[in-house]
Amino acid sequence: MESVSELIGADVIALRVHELAAEIVRTRDEDEGDDLLVLVLLKGAFVFAADLLRALDQAGAVPQVDFLTASSYGTSTTSSGQVRLGTEPATTVEDRDVLLVDDIVDTGRSLTAVRMWLETRGAGRVRTCVLLDKPSRREVAVTADFTGFEVPDRFIVGYGLDCAEKYRHLPYVGVLTP
Ligand code: IMP
Ligand code: MG
Repeated sequence: MESVSELIGADVIALRVHELAAEIVRTRDEDEGDDLLVLVLLKGAFVFAADLLRALDQAGAVPQVDFLTASSYGTSTTSSGQVRLGTEPATTVEDRDVLLVDDIVDTGRSLTAVRMWLETRGAGRVRTCVLLDKPSRREVAVTADFTGFEVPDRFIVGYGLDCAEKYRHLPYVGVLTP
């Protein structure tokens, strides 16, 4: 039986999410004004984004939010090496200041592919924010502008992240032990 052992507790995540929101607001462009379109990569980032958006409110931002899908994983725990862009955001991204939010950077392919997609759609300043970074597995040189935690080369679940659609509901980040 597979099981999950806790790696980052809910309290630690909550503190870090507030730090990230403060950092995002602090590093806004002067001319950016109130414009901030938060684009959330589903499904993995939905829990992180829900907390981050409310922390952004506390930090004084007035973000809008929309969603898009990209998948590089099927139901297995190894990357297929291909990124499929699925549902596009309904909001026009042209000239908007975008904060792209994802759950984890692994090979770096998803973040790179979505950033390129945003550029072809004429987005303004694009910044990226991820909860987790697994630098040991990088195949495309990319670093998020804002990163919550670095994690070891283990399969991570919880707080939105799944293994074959399980464990997204866990309030903490854990590692899967087969
Ligand atoms: P990348 O394109 O390889 O960087 O993969 C990014 C996507 O793969 C993330 O948005 C996750 O959905 C998924 N992913 C990568 N590593 C993990 C993991 O350890 N657990 C769960 N999902 C993962
Ligand atoms: Mg994902």
